[in-house]
Amino acid sequence: MSHEDFPTNEPAVVTCGLPYANGDLHIGHLRTYVGGDIYSRALKRLGQETAFVSGSDMHGTPVAVNAEQEGVTPEEFALRHHEAYEETFPKFDVEFDNYGHTHDETNVETTQEIVRTLESEGYVYEKEIPVAYDPDADQWLPDRFVEGACPYCGEHARGDECDEGCGRHLEPGEIEDPVSTITGNPAEYHEREHKFFAVSDLQEYLSGFLDRLEGTSNAQNQPREWVEGELQDWCITRDMDWGVDHPDDEDLVLYVWVDAPIEYISSTKQYTDRVGRDAFDWEQVWREDGDIVHIIGRDIIQHHTVFWPAMLHAAGYTEPRAVMASGFITLEGKGFSTSRNRAVWADEYLEEGFRPDLLRYYLATNGGFQQDVDFSWARFRERVNNELVGTVGNFAYRSLLFAAREFGGTPDADLSPQVRERIEEAIAEFEAGVNDYSVRDVGESAVRLAQFGNEYIQRNEPWKLDDDDPEKAQVIRDCVQIATAVAVLFEPVVPETAARLWADLDADGDVHAVEVDAALDAPGDEFDEPDELFEKIPEERVEELNEKLEARVAEATADDEAETEHEDDEAAESDDAAADLEPIADERIGFEDFQDLDIRVGEILAAEGVDGADKLAKLTVDIGVEERQIVAGIKQLHDLDSLPGTRIVVVANLEKAELFGVESNGMLLAAGEQADLLTTHEDAEPGTKIK
Ligand code: 2FM
Ligand code: ZN
Repeated sequence: MSHEDFPTNEPAVVTCGLPYANGDLHIGHLRTYVGGDIYSRALKRLGQETAFVSGSDMHGTPVAVNAEQEGVTPEEFALRHHEAYEETFPKFDVEFDNYGHTHDETNVETTQEIVRTLESEGYVYEKEIPVAYDPDADQWLPDRFVEGACPYCGEHARGDECDEGCGRHLEPGEIEDPVSTITGNPAEYHEREHKFFAVSDLQEYLSGFLDRLEGTSNAQNQPREWVEGELQDWCITRDMDWGVDHPDDEDLVLYVWVDAPIEYISSTKQYTDRVGRDAFDWEQVWREDGDIVHIIGRDIIQHHTVFWPAMLHAAGYTEPRAVMASGFITLEGKGFSTSRNRAVWADEYLEEGFRPDLLRYYLATNGGFQQDVDFSWARFRERVNNELVGTVGNFAYRSLLFAAREFGGTPDADLSPQVRERIEEAIAEFEAGVNDYSVRDVGESAVRLAQFGNEYIQRNEPWKLDDDDPEKAQVIRDCVQIATAVAVLFEPVVPETAARLWADLDADGDVHAVEVDAALDAPGDEFDEPDELFEKIPEERVEELNEKLEARVAEATADDEAETEHEDDEAAESDDAAADLEPIADERIGFEDFQDLDIRVGEILAAEGVDGADKLAKLTVDIGVEERQIVAGIKQLHDLDSLPGTRIVVVANLEKAELFGVESNGMLLAAGEQADLLTTHEDAEPGTKIK
C-alpha cells in the first residue's frame, strides 16, 4: 500500500531523533536536525499541516555514566545539556514547534500510560535473566555500565549496543566476558527478574509495516533481516534509579528506549497544549490517521523500524509513515572525535562568523541524505562561493539591482509563459523532493531555478536593450518573478537569506509562512536597490580554519597523553605495575616489513619549543646523510637546552607531517609517556642504520 502524496488532508508530525543530553553539539549532530527542519519547512510550504517536534533524551546510561564521572546528579547534568541544546538549535534556525525532554511530567505520564496499556493488552511478561553485577561496587550494571565482547561478531561492545562491530542492539546478559565500567573488574552474571515486551508476537504486523514504510531506502531495507529472522523480545526494565519509574515496580526504571521515542508523542501533546486543539490536534495524529515522519541517524534504524512501531501498534497508536535515516559525517576524510577535539563545534562555527544558512546548505546538498558526507572547509568554501554566491546570490543581485535602478521595482508587464512554466517545473521538483524524502532535491530545486535565471538574463542581455523596448521590461519582470520563486523554494534550506530576499522584493506576507504558490504571486511594485545575499569566503580563511583545527587536535592529543601519563604514574606506584603494561601485539610482522623501516642514529643539533603549542618541540637532527627538522611532543618532558649533543634514534623514512604549521620530517623514538629518548650504547655515528 502506498500513501497518498504530500500534502495530505491529515496533520503530519516530523520528529528528529532525541539527542542524549550529555555533550556539546557539533556539525555532525546538526545534519539530522537541519535535515528535519528543512523537511518540515518544506512540508509547510506545500500547505501540509505539520508539527516539528523533538526533545532531549535525559535518561539512560549514556547520561548516568557521564554524570557520575563529573560527580553531579544525572538530573543536574542532563538539564544543563538540555538547556544548552534548547539555545543552540534556534541559532541554526532549527525551529522546533516544540522541544521538550524525556524527564518532564508529560513524558513520564505518557510513558507510564503506554506501558500499562502494553501490559493490559498482554504484551508484557516477566522472565529471569542473567544481569551483570559488580560485587565490589555492589551494583547492578545496566547497559553502558558493562563492556565486553559482542556475542554476534566478537567485537568490543558497550552495554546495549555493539557500537564498534555489527551495530546490533544487545539485550541484558548477552555481552560476553563482561567487565564493569565502574571498577574495571570482571562482572558477574546474576539471575534477576525483568519485564519483557513480546516483540516476537508482532512479527506479522511488522512485516506488513515494512511493506508500507516510506522514507530512505536504508530504513526500508535494513530491518527486513531482523523482522524476517528470529525476532527477539525486548527487556524493557533496568536496575537503576535514573529514568522513568516502572508504573508498578518502583525498584525498576524503564529502559531508555521505551521513554525516549514516547517523547515524540509527549512533545506533540505539549505543542497542542500551547496552540490549542483547533490549531493542531496531537490525538488525531497519534491515535487516528496522522502522517508521522521520523528523521534519525542511521545507527538507530532498528529502534525506529522494529521496536517503536511494535510498541505503537500494541498500544493502539498510529504507525510511522516514513523513516529518513541520515548517513554519517566525516571531517576532512576522518571520523569526528570528541575526545581528540576533532570536530567543528556548533558554537565554534557561529563564532567564526559564518551564517547558519551556509552550513544548512552544505549539509542539505553535499550528498544524498542517506549517504555519508565529508565536511571540509575547502569544500565548504567551494560550495558557498560557486553556488550560493555565484549562482543564487549573483542572479538575485543583478536582477533586483537592474529592476530597482531602471524601473524602481517590478516592471509593468505580464509574466511570460515560458518563465511561468519553468517556475512551475521548479515547484514540481520541490514537491517531488518532499515526496521522495530527498532533502537534497528540495534544496536543489531553487538553485537550479536561479541557474536558469542567470542563463535567461545572460541570453536576453536587457542592458543592451533600449529603455522603450518592451522586451527590456519583460526580461526584468520575468527575472523578478524568478527571484520571488527562489525565495519561496529556498526558504526551507536558507530561511534567513530567503527572508532577506523577500524583504528586498518588498513582497507581501511572511516567506516563512507562505505556500509554494506564492512563487507565482506578483512581487512588490516598488523596491530599493538590494544588498548582496552572500559573501565569498577567501582562500586564506580555509587555511586559517584548517590550522586551527590541526592545532586543537594536537593539543587535545597531547592533553590526552598527559592524562594517560598521570594515570600511568599512579599505576607505577601500585604494587602491580606490570599488569598495566600493554600486552604484546598478537599479530607478528615479517622480517621484510621490519626492513622497510629506515631507522638511523641521529644527533640533536638544536632544540626549541614550537610557538603556540604547549607540548611540541622543534629539533634539528643530524642523521649523517643530511640534517632533518623533526617535531616531537617532548617540550614539557625534557630540558630543551640540554638536548643538543644527545644521540637519538630516528625513523627516517616516515611520511612528512605538519604540526602547528611546522614541518616534521621523521620521527624520534622514545619510550613511554615520559618520552624517555632512545639512544645508542656505544658511539655509533649519526646516519648509522639500525638493524
Ligand atoms: O541514539 C541516541 O542518541 C538516542 N538518544 C536517540 C533517541 S531517538 C528516540 F527514539 F527517542
Ligand atoms: Zn557485534
